[in-house]
Amino acid sequence: MACFWKVCDVADVIEGQGLPVEVDGLGIAIFNDGGQFHALLGRCPHANGSMGQGWIEDGEVVCPLHRWRFKLTTGRCTTVGGNSLHRFRCEVRGDEVWVEV
Ligand code: FES
Repeated sequence: MACFWKVCDVADVIEGQGLPVEVDGLGIAIFNDGGQFHALLGRCPHANGSMGQGWIEDGEVVCPLHRWRFKLTTGRCTTVGGNSLHRFRCEVRGDEVWVEV
């Protein structure tokens, strides 16, 4: 059964840059896009690039390895159709970021 986990503090997530975190062995990438927080699967479907080391451009996350792009709001890949990143529910509670896994 899914439950929420505290993954980091709000201050840990630099706006526009990813932050890799781990929940129960699962790698997740946290992003702050102008104060909106998002949690996406931490591994790129192309070749396992670390999405937590990626960054945001125009509402999309960019994979650091080969620059595939994914919509922050849907996880859908806009570089190669049919690919996506799983999104997790993400909430800010006070100064903390929580993700449902
Ligand atoms: S591993 Fe992400 S684009 Fe290649």
